[in-house]
Amino acid sequence: MIAPLPSSVNHAVGRSPFNPDCDDLYQGWRTRKLAVYPTSLDELMVPVADGFALTPDERASVLLAVERANIALYQLPPGCARDKLVIRQLGRQFGLERLDSNLCADDDGITSLHVVEKRRVGEYIPYTSQRLNWHTDGYYNSPQQQIRGVILHCVQPAESGGENAFLDHEIAYIHLRDQNPDLVRALMAPDAMTIPPNVQNGEQLRPEQTGPVFSIDNGGHLHMRYSARTRNIIWKADAVTQAAAECLLNLFQQDSPYIFRHRLEAGQGVISNNALHCRTAFSHSDKGQGRLLYRARYFDRIADIEQDG
Ligand SMILES: [Fe+2]
Repeated sequence: MIAPLPSSVNHAVGRSPFNPDCDDLYQGWRTRKLAVYPTSLDELMVPVADGFALTPDERASVLLAVERANIALYQLPPGCARDKLVIRQLGRQFGLERLDSNLCADDDGITSLHVVEKRRVGEYIPYTSQRLNWHTDGYYNSPQQQIRGVILHCVQPAESGGENAFLDHEIAYIHLRDQNPDLVRALMAPDAMTIPPNVQNGEQLRPEQTGPVFSIDNGGHLHMRYSARTRNIIWKADAVTQAAAECLLNLFQQDSPYIFRHRLEAGQGVISNNALHCRTAFSHSDKGQGRLLYRARYFDRIADIEQDG
């Protein structure tokens, strides 16, 4: 039986480092977190010989990277970049099973991200070559369909540009909470951030979604639902929520040592607990194939599951 999807709504938060009322737990967790946080993206890169069957060491390295920063990078051997099956299988080895087959996913539930000249109904900015602002994936999904895990895999980079930046959402949480726990409290409110409905040609493709920015899942992990876009995001109108949103924007504008920038090469990918990320603009011409990435979004979080065999 498939377990019910976790909700992003904060029910009874209870004792947790992420509960703004539990300062003792928070301080201990914060110290441990920052002590092992990587100083460069190289520490999170794991060369993988066979994506279909990781060695115990490769698996352990990915899990360790994710534990430290909610992000791991992998590098497949040359010639494997184009295979979507390897992405599916790679995810399964970390408990990433339940794909979000959104409006634009291909038949196999994995989305091919490439520039399309003419947008189909409901298509969003990832299908253009423009800059993409800081966000977590699926921030417009319902509370029951929040995206917990993501694989972003590069088949072919752009000729120039298309660099990603990544930031562990737990670091964003620390940034806010250290300034004032009330900022975190405001972003944990169930009405903190609203995404208006997606209406195209009079047809509603997705209803309005209201929910918290930070929530704690059933396993006690921190989840973040966020977009730095100014259009189509409605922040709760009170002063604390507005200040919290401003505080996050400030974090992204700083040259923070916690932000990692990287341009994915062919065969490289990111496996993450839906950490914050953004993308620079990239060059695109009609000649040649251009930038192509595969994106798999899951309702599952990365887990250390038992392997067969
Ligand atoms: Fe994204």
